[in-house]
Formats: sequence, structure tokens, C-alpha cells
Amino acid sequence: MSAVPTQLAPPLRLPAAYGRCPFTPPPAYTEAARAGAVTRSVLPDGTPCWLVTGYREVRSVLADARFSADARTPGFPFLSPGQRQLATSRPSFIRMDDPEHARLRRMVTRDFLVRRVEELRPAIRRIVDDALDELIAKEQPADLVRDFTLPVPSLVICLMLGVPYADRDLFQSLSRTLLDNTATDGEVANAHRSLMGYLAGLAARKAREPGDDILSRLAARDDLTPGQVASLGFMLLVTGHESTANMSAISVLTLLRNPALAARLRADPALMPAAVEELLRHVTIIHLGLARAAKEDVEVGGVTIAAGDGVICMLSTANRDEEVFGPTAGTLDPDRRDARRHLSFGFGVHQCLGHALARVELEVVLTTLLRRLPNLRLATGETALTYGTSDLVYGVRELPVTW
Ligand code: HEM
Repeated sequence: MSAVPTQLAPPLRLPAAYGRCPFTPPPAYTEAARAGAVTRSVLPDGTPCWLVTGYREVRSVLADARFSADARTPGFPFLSPGQRQLATSRPSFIRMDDPEHARLRRMVTRDFLVRRVEELRPAIRRIVDDALDELIAKEQPADLVRDFTLPVPSLVICLMLGVPYADRDLFQSLSRTLLDNTATDGEVANAHRSLMGYLAGLAARKAREPGDDILSRLAARDDLTPGQVASLGFMLLVTGHESTANMSAISVLTLLRNPALAARLRADPALMPAAVEELLRHVTIIHLGLARAAKEDVEVGGVTIAAGDGVICMLSTANRDEEVFGPTAGTLDPDRRDARRHLSFGFGVHQCLGHALARVELEVVLTTLLRRLPNLRLATGETALTYGTSDLVYGVRELPVTW
């Protein structure tokens, strides 16, 4: 670890709620970005680390194999005890370096290609329509997060993994507990154990009676044990669920705050893909940044990051870097041409495997809601909403709505 920093940015620990505006990065990060693209900071536990806030510098760290994504690398930074527990107790290829990372990622790449995801679009539409039918059957007001944006991505992963229809309630309820901020550590650990046991059992069944799904293809390999198949399935659920659910919910809230934009998108759904890119850029739900540890001394943005130093790459400030997105970088502009350059799905070898799937899910969710519930509105004042900061992603905890 290099010398103790002389210039300390404010600690990175975020408050439980942003309070004022949930759509802008917390001031501590914006101030750090103003001080420089790479600055010294401290983790909530007091350990010094580097904070990388500039677009080019974030890309250069994420594309450089000398920075490790493996949580066991000396100096790997943890923003909270929860992150430490998550990264070390559920290792998967998101927390591995090449070549092991590439070997495992290759096993599932095909299922997430743009072409394959496009083939799934009709099935995703059915899942979204069915979930909306169930929501509409409920009493008003209903919670759009619990009853719509949370179940949809988990049902899509069920479909891709090949979870039988009859088991979906069990699968859904276990994954809901995993994401429940109010669940105790014991409840989360139990849900984790049950889900891993369920997936291992299902993988064994798929090995005997294969179908056309990810678990069957993984279970047919002789270089993976049923436990490893379960771990991969579990990681796909965890990475694809909370992120997409929160991004959907906060996108809906953004449209409710911008009725003119909602009306435009309702009238011309062909504008939706560009709007989704701009929402991903502007909101940046992976709010605590991506963690890496330097394996060698590396120069980034004119600063030498020493071997063993922890680095936090802030996607939210990179996505608002005026050198890249111009003077209006801080504004939501669905007509922006360069929104797709955002880093909300990361960059480099760990770039989000599910980006095409997330994009289609978001497009279908938003288009369907706008079309089928044109009178959708908040059932409470906006100030009553609470914004959750889980260990991974930022989002609105509940969206009480009427239609
Ligand atoms: C990785 C964001 C949806 C699967 C990542 C990373 C980001 C990200 C920033 C990079 C992590 C790092 O470099 O440390 C998002 C966002 C999503 C989303 C914002 C929704 C809006 C999904 C979906 C899936 C998925 C639907 C599908 C199951 C993955 C996987 C990785 C990953 C497997 C690890 C890739 C690797 O390490 O090679 N995601 N993600 N994500 N994401 Fe997503």
C-alpha cells in the first residue's frame, strides 16, 4: 500500500437515503470528481483507497488486467461488511480474474448474445403482460416494485435457467428473501442455502432429462460438478435480478416525473431503445462503484496506483463526465446521440454479460406499462418515497401506484 494520502476525499459510505434528489450522484463523489479524475479517499472502515471518477480513467482501470476483480487479492476494497461477505462467500466469475474468469464466462456467453435475447423477446413480453395482469387484478394502490418490477427479472431468469413452472413460486420467494433489506442475516443465509440446494437438485435432474435451457447445457458438461452448476445459476439470478428490477422501477419513476417524455414514448415506442440508454446513463444504479485491486504499480490519469492499493471506479460520475458527454452531461436528454457510450454495464472483460437481456427487459417493461396503464400515477407524494441503498444497487424501495 502506498503512503497515507495527504488529500482525503470524504468517506465513501453513503447515507441510507439520498434525501434530496435520488437522480444525481451524492455530492461527495461529485466534489471528488471536481478535485481530479483519480483522487485519494478512504473506505468506511478507514482504509485508504483510490477513487476514480473520470470516464477515461474508469475505462482504463476496467480494461487493464493489472487490476484484479478477485476479492481475495491483497488490498481489494470493500465498501461495507455486506459487500465483503457477498464477494467472499459467493465467489463466481464476476469475482475472478482471467483465465479462470474467461473459462467459466464462455460457458454461458451464447445464451446472452443479442441474437439469442431477441429470440426471447416474445416470451419476455408474455412474462411482462402476465405480471401486469396480476398487478391489475390487485386492489389499488399497489406496490409496483413488489408486485411488478421485482418478479419480472426473476421470472425471465427462471425461463432461461429452465426452472419448471411448478417451482417458480418457491424460486421467487427464496430470491425475494435474498433481496429483502429487512430480512435477518440468518434468513438470508437460509434462503441462499435453500436456493443453492434447489439449483443443485435441478441440475442433477436436468443431467438425466435435459431441456433447452442453460442449466441443462451446464449439467451436460463433464468439467463442472452439480455444485458448480448451481453456483453459476445462482450468480446469474443474483446479478440479473436486483439490478434490472431497480433499474425498471427507477425508470418508471423518472417517466412519472416527466409526463412529456412519457407521452412522447407512448406515441412513438421506436424511441424507447434510445430512452433506455439515456436512463441507464443518467440514473446509474450501480451507485457505489466497481471495486478492483492493483496487482502491480500502474499509472492512471497521471497518478501512480501502487500494487496492493484498492480502487473504486465510480460509474455515476464517469457517466456525467462533461469531457465525454458535453456541458449537458448532468441532464436527462433522450435525444442524446452518445448515451450508449455510458459505463453503466461496466467495461472490459467483466462488462455485464446480461446487458442485451437487461436492455430488452427494460424496453418491454416500460413500453408495456405506458401502453396498458396510461393513467399510471404515484399514490403518494414523491417526498414519501424511500430510496434503498443495498450493498450493490440503488433503487426506490416501494412505488405505491394507482392506474
Ligand atoms: C456484470 C450492471 C443486468 C449478469 C455487471 C457489471 C455491471 C453490471 C456494472 C460489471 C461488474 C464488474 O466489472 O465488477 C448491470 C446493470 C443491469 C444488469 C445496470 C440492469 C440494468 C444484468 C442481467 C444479467 C446480468 C439481466 C443476466 C443474468 C451479469 C454478469 C456479470 C455482470 C454474469 C459478470 C460478468 C463478468 O464478470 O464477466 N453487470 N447488470 N446483469 N452482469 Fe450485469
